[in-house]
Amino acid sequence: MTSGLVHLGSLPARAPGETAAQGDASLTRHGLMRDGFGRRVEYLRISVTDKCNLRCVYCMPEEGLPWLRRDDLLSYEEIAEVVGVMAPLGLRSLRITGGEPLVRRDLPVLVRMLSKIPGIEDIALSTNAVLLDGYATALRDAGVNRLNISLDSLIPGRIDAIARRSGSADGIFRGIEAAERAGFAPIKINCVVMRGRNDDEVESFARMSQERPWHIRFIEVMPTGENLGVSADEYVSSDEMLERIRAIGDLSPVNGPRGNGPARYYAFPGAPGTIGVITPMSHNYCDRCNRMRLTADGHLRPCLFGAIQTNLRDPLRRGEPIEPLVRETLRIKPERHWLVQGDDTGSGGLLALSQVGG
Ligand code: 5AD
Ligand code: SF4
Repeated sequence: MTSGLVHLGSLPARAPGETAAQGDASLTRHGLMRDGFGRRVEYLRISVTDKCNLRCVYCMPEEGLPWLRRDDLLSYEEIAEVVGVMAPLGLRSLRITGGEPLVRRDLPVLVRMLSKIPGIEDIALSTNAVLLDGYATALRDAGVNRLNISLDSLIPGRIDAIARRSGSADGIFRGIEAAERAGFAPIKINCVVMRGRNDDEVESFARMSQERPWHIRFIEVMPTGENLGVSADEYVSSDEMLERIRAIGDLSPVNGPRGNGPARYYAFPGAPGTIGVITPMSHNYCDRCNRMRLTADGHLRPCLFGAIQTNLRDPLRRGEPIEPLVRETLRIKPERHWLVQGDDTGSGGLLALSQVGG
């Protein structure tokens, strides 16, 4: 494959109705990255593997996906090299994702490498927590300062059914306890809400914020090639979730935990935790987007969805400079995504978020 910009599939890089970038991506006076719409980009989500030990119904098919080959993956050294190029351009904050990042061997080794790069102030991890018990302390010692844990139900049998892996609930609960023991705070819990599967637990999840200092975030399901049935039939809007939660207590808008995210937060009076909603479908927050993504096979994606990605891996392996490619990818960061529930056209050929780091 040649270096430079690679457009996935046959979709145009710009979707119908999308306006062209207003100006060139440029460095500000302080040398920081901005995209063509003036958005400051200081956050990179790094996928370290496309594999996962679960098969969540809104993500992957039960039989899994065609996995990347081992030598397609960026090595930890190569990931650190990409971050080392982006940090002087203003990159400050990293999130390690997958697939499930803990299925990749020796993850704390990568965290330690990244935490030494000048300019990197914050390293977060998104995990399904099944393997967290064995890693929580090592990750914290290596430099992970924030955790997001996926938890779609509080009922063990349901967790296993949604994740399509029996016994996963046990591991997840042990993982969450290990995270608390290791001193991770804040802990964010991500719950994808689906009608008929777990929407009747929205209230119980919300009540958890009254007992524990957790930030419970409800996510609207996003359509990808592999989940069109779920996304078409089981989508629940954040407005509906909030209405149900307001029926059990007063909710006030609050500032969320430190983070980079798009969630809007609320809290019950006096509660130690908060309740957040992440609303990619009903209220898109693209105008505030501050992020890019690095896929496990070394492609830089300016948007989670859409057809644009830049192959950094091959030029990196040929010893060519990648900074110009990073700047060009930033320049063409799209203004917004074009997702429609139950339709994967706007996802740019994605089968699952695990392919690009959700
Ligand atoms: N829609 C919404 N959220 C998703 N996630 C994965 N796939 C989807 C989807 N199609 C979420 C998981 C996890 C995070 C990594 O991404 O729940 O919290
Ligand atoms: Fe794995 Fe996360 Fe996808 Fe679930 S959502 S199958 S935990 S990558």
